[in-house]
Amino acid sequence: MKGIILAGGSGTRLRPLTSITSKQLLPIYNKPMIFFPLQTLLNAGIRDVLIIVAPSNAGDFLKLLGSGKEFGCNFSYEIQDKPEGLAQAFLIGENFLGGDAATLVLGDNIFEDNFSEAITTFKSGGRVFAKEVPDPERFGVVTFDENKRAISIEEKPEHPKSNYAVTGLYIYDNTVVEKVKTLQPSSRGELEITDLNNVYLREGTLDVAFVAGKWFDTGTFESLYEATQFVRERELAKT
Ligand code: DAU
Repeated sequence: MKGIILAGGSGTRLRPLTSITSKQLLPIYNKPMIFFPLQTLLNAGIRDVLIIVAPSNAGDFLKLLGSGKEFGCNFSYEIQDKPEGLAQAFLIGENFLGGDAATLVLGDNIFEDNFSEAITTFKSGGRVFAKEVPDPERFGVVTFDENKRAISIEEKPEHPKSNYAVTGLYIYDNTVVEKVKTLQPSSRGELEITDLNNVYLREGTLDVAFVAGKWFDTGTFESLYEATQFVRERELAKT
């Protein structure tokens, strides 16, 4: 199992904070944001990690994270020239993956849960993680039948059919690259992760698990603030 952190994008919603740096380098209390999704992968025993960044601040990521030795693992880096969608990560990472399964985590997602078991027990297909939220229209939204089996996933629907957001951690088997190659860009010009999840869903191989603890997608000022508060409380509780 290899890991990918997608830390590109233009961070427009967080300007002016992101006018001179990347969103994923902004501080969450005492650490740069990207440390948190990185820790999620490290906790699950993943030691080969590809970090995908935008061209503008690529050097800063390298300066911050280096070779990976300090974290006990190997880091590789790739540039995503334009933010053409989350699923593009697997095309950019095709050589890095070399036919292995992959766990993708978004560089702006912070999880309290430990996904070690979910990642180490994964065998085939796809596995994503849902969380009940008050504002599902901001996310990919998954609907379940009465047996808690996923029946549909829609990207930022105007009228969400459930309150379950698909969070930014995705585990896929080694068919992921071929599947992404069949996708067409959406109306916003992106290869959508929701379309990829729907390929697995239609194939009957998508497992939707649940996030038990706190989860933050730090894409807004509010969620950035809430994540900072959460991490601060957790840090202070340690002392
Ligand atoms: O956080 C979970 C949500 O992430 C999912 O529920 C949605 O289905 C999924 O589309 C995504 O929604 P967002 O609105 O959060 O996506 P956003 O465009 O903000 O991108 C998420 C992160 O990925 C952000 O840190 C920027 C980075 N990114 C984004 C794109 C489109 C890239 O590095 N490259 C890209 O091409």
